Amino acid sequence: MKTSAIERLQKPVAMPSRGIHIAAPQRGRTSLTALRRAARDCRACDLWKHATQTVFGEGASKASIMFVGEQPGDQEDLAGHPFVGPAGNVLDQALLEAGIDRAEVYLTNAVKHFKWSPAERGKRRIHKKPRYSEIHACRPWLEAELRVVKPRILVCLGSTAAQSLLGRTFSVTRQRGQLIDSPLAPFVIALAPFVIATVHPSSILRAPNSDARQLQMQAFIDDLRIVSKLARKAKAA
Ligand code: URA
Repeated sequence: MKTSAIERLQKPVAMPSRGIHIAAPQRGRTSLTALRRAARDCRACDLWKHATQTVFGEGASKASIMFVGEQPGDQEDLAGHPFVGPAGNVLDQALLEAGIDRAEVYLTNAVKHFKWSPAERGKRRIHKKPRYSEIHACRPWLEAELRVVKPRILVCLGSTAAQSLLGRTFSVTRQRGQLIDSPLAPFVIALAPFVIATVHPSSILRAPNSDARQLQMQAFIDDLRIVSKLARKAKAA
């Protein structure tokens, strides 16, 4: 029987959610390194066929805050690193304003390959939203990252991340900036005690004018300030 990339890691343990087998977490960095290496060959959905490479999560291996975006964009796909393009710049600016050091967090995506279609004219690659089946296929990697990093606070950036982790009925518009109740996502809460969702930084880039962009940026920073406060409390506890 063919095994998936995630199954080929050593020391398999059952994952409670769907009985998928992944490596038992070893020590912080080693495990992330092993996961990253295994994810290079992931063929769990077809997105790898048109992507340059798998873009795995990055950051502090013992980060107390983990941010989860949607999927790598054009620049991330080429560079092989998450949040290094325009959405990453918005995120960087908001993190700075909220007093969160990017070097101390872990950044990843719900989907680890860039999904795109060619522009009608020119060579541009247009971002396409991942399908539920693609999000679902990629979730074992996200769960594995959660198990290794063990963040105190998990931040879903946008609806793809929130629906991957909190269920398909979760509404970021209605529930942004609020701590998520455990009945909504008992398995996720068991891995990260505080779970919160906010908008995806790319939504701010799509604001219709500069006034709207400023308002949306301020609301995003306000949500990240809640995260920053939680992180400080968790550190002090
Ligand atoms: N958007 C995301 O969700 N993730 C990235 O890494 C870049 C853009």
